[in-house]
Amino acid sequence: MGTDIGLQPMPPSTILVADPGAGVRCEREILLSAMDRVLGGGQYILGPEVHSFEQEWAGYLGVSHCVGVANGTDALALALKATGVQAGDEVITVSHTAVATIVAIEAIGAIPVFVDIDPTTRCMDPGLLKAAITSRTRAIVPVHMYGQPAPMNNILSLARRFHCWVVEDCAQAHGAAIGEKKVGSFGDAAAFSFYPTKNLGAIGDAGAVVCQSPVIESRLRALRQYGWRDRYVSEDVGTNSRLDELQAAILRVKLRHLDQRNRTRRAIAERYRGALASTGAVPPPTIPGTTHAMHLFVLESEQRERLATYLSEVNIATARHYPVPVHRQPAYVGRITGADRLPVTEALYQRILTIPCHPELTDEQVQRVCDRLQTWSEVTSSSLHVLEKTAS
Ligand SMILES: Cc1ncc(COP(=O)(O)O)c(C=O)c1O
Repeated sequence: MGTDIGLQPMPPSTILVADPGAGVRCEREILLSAMDRVLGGGQYILGPEVHSFEQEWAGYLGVSHCVGVANGTDALALALKATGVQAGDEVITVSHTAVATIVAIEAIGAIPVFVDIDPTTRCMDPGLLKAAITSRTRAIVPVHMYGQPAPMNNILSLARRFHCWVVEDCAQAHGAAIGEKKVGSFGDAAAFSFYPTKNLGAIGDAGAVVCQSPVIESRLRALRQYGWRDRYVSEDVGTNSRLDELQAAILRVKLRHLDQRNRTRRAIAERYRGALASTGAVPPPTIPGTTHAMHLFVLESEQRERLATYLSEVNIATARHYPVPVHRQPAYVGRITGADRLPVTEALYQRILTIPCHPELTDEQVQRVCDRLQTWSEVTSSSLHVLEKTAS
């Protein structure tokens, strides 16, 4: 479910959309010593590394509690369950997201309901929430898409008015913030994925739920391990979604560089913005008062297929996040409420193109992308020129 790094064989000089292996190679020694510590420690699941990571991640986000789980999809499902969402309850979210958001809602028997996105943030449009809320609505799941914070203050005030829980999907937004407040610290609970290509990525699957309430925290701790409150005593119907020590040890090392790596992402994005000026392609929006985690640099272009080909000619990979929104995927067509009222989602998915923007890129690679983007302007204007000449 992570960033598409491409399954086709690509020439070695290809600039990849994501390159988690390069990140690992940069700090191989320190990662190996963290792994060695785990191997020698003899405790491989829910041990001291998980405990320390939970404290460090909660501290970084400014929340009271963190519970490590097996992946981001479980994190979302368990967060919903721990807040009190039950089978048959409606949960409002967006279709412009990774399918995992919907998988998690349905995994606990809840019913997803879609609202459209705001074209500026590409996140949930809070102005549409009121009309979507029914007597069965129990929760709202905003997704901080691509690393752009969703408008949490508006979403929260509506949720409070209608007594709905808010569970943030932060899988693409580690370190993103509104003002000084990090995403993940707004809702009743928030879910993170540490899939390897994420801004904070493990070397396998990993996830976490964060929250402020000790009641939600203790439910989460039980739910992630067979519903145990005490060992061998299942008071809830839980599951097995534990975080292992190796992943936690790796995440602790990588957390130290998260802010620096996010700054690098944003600096690369600025260079792309400059290169895209006057090309006709539209860079991601900048929303005042928010800090973008720049998980993905997703531009918009009427000619995105041509632009993708133009970039691939010089071995610059691209991707689409996502090729089709959830309501158009075969497993979901025709059965999600609200799917027929998503004009912004419908228009956006056909225009989006993800270009490589991650801290493993070298300066030379970023420059290669910029140079190519700048000449795209010439290609579009010269082809328009040809069209104009043909017409006259
Ligand atoms: C928005 C969003 N939500 C949830 C997930 C699920 O995370 P995981 O793949 O760790 O289960 C992802 C991962 O791609 C995501 O991008």
